[in-house]
Amino acid sequence: MTLSEITTIREKLLADLDGIGAADQLEAFKLAHLTRKGTIGAMFDDLRSVSKEEKPLAGKELNALRQLVEERFKEKESLYTAGAGVGIRHAIDLTMLARAVSVSAPGHEHPLMKTLNEMVSIFERMGFAVEYGPEVEDDEHNFEKLNFAPDHPARDMQDTFFVRSNPLAQQGEGAGPAPTLGEAAPLLLRTHTSPVQVRLMERQKPPIRAIMPGRVYRNEAISARSGVAFFMMEGLVVGPGVSMADLKGVLLSFAKQFFGSDAKIRLRPSFFPFTEPSAEVDVSCYICGGKGCRVCKNSGWLEILGAGMVHPNVLSASGIDPEVYTGYAFGIGVDRTAMMRYGVNDIRDFFENDARFLEQF
Ligand code: PHE
Repeated sequence: MTLSEITTIREKLLADLDGIGAADQLEAFKLAHLTRKGTIGAMFDDLRSVSKEEKPLAGKELNALRQLVEERFKEKESLYTAGAGVGIRHAIDLTMLARAVSVSAPGHEHPLMKTLNEMVSIFERMGFAVEYGPEVEDDEHNFEKLNFAPDHPARDMQDTFFVRSNPLAQQGEGAGPAPTLGEAAPLLLRTHTSPVQVRLMERQKPPIRAIMPGRVYRNEAISARSGVAFFMMEGLVVGPGVSMADLKGVLLSFAKQFFGSDAKIRLRPSFFPFTEPSAEVDVSCYICGGKGCRVCKNSGWLEILGAGMVHPNVLSASGIDPEVYTGYAFGIGVDRTAMMRYGVNDIRDFFENDARFLEQF
């Protein structure tokens, strides 16, 4: 046995001890190395074979080795021995700060979905069916059958996201309107949920009473007031003798259920290609009750939706006889309404998924 063998064995034992992770391994280590017949005991026996000159130093080294390994062993043992209260302190630091666990807000609806679902259930209670349609649309349903003129600015790339663009548009001005049907027709992300109205009318004869909630896309600069995707909920009612008075009645009822029983509405003349007459609809400011405040910019009114009587061209484009049936339609922007309702100043807050924001709803 040489001094370097002693060093090698010391390193090996300490490494083994370090690697121990359970009480039974500790017991096995003790039997293998620390008993009379174990590794260290056998080394003491071996001292006899060491030369006279080296013996004092080897003995000293061996004693130091035994002391060190026994010390480390005891440290380890104190971690695993039941009831060794003092040792347990090393394993579990009771003074360590706990990770915050949110028990008050275990998960809930996103404020936009909360707003949309509430709108949907108000209309469901009034007898409206819920209809959905594709988000990738063709020109025919998003524009053509909704009475948009071929050169309407909404068809422009600056306003609409095209999935498959108009091949003729590259040829510059004078190329004429894009083909709206067939292979060459452009595909786009719907800019409103009105195409779902068209699809419904193509499929179902009056009476029709439905709402169409969903996501829509517009090629707009992102700002505090607008993003490139937002939610809309449209409504459509078609039947014999459906009038503007019916529209007003339904919207007033909605406003009272959504904003509170004191809510009033007012209609201002407006324009949409697919409705005639058309109106912008305002609701009395739910903050000041119409007296004028910061939220309504002292006007007492908040703009909430667009509406009107379905244009006869739209009815006939979808196979419904405008001489027999009339209808009304309306469209509400969900994000803006949610902003108003919850006093959110920046629309982007809805999409940043900051838990500190979301937990407030
Ligand atoms: N589609 C219109 C928009 O995108 C909203 C609307 C729907 C207006 C139905 C009138 C009737 O703004």
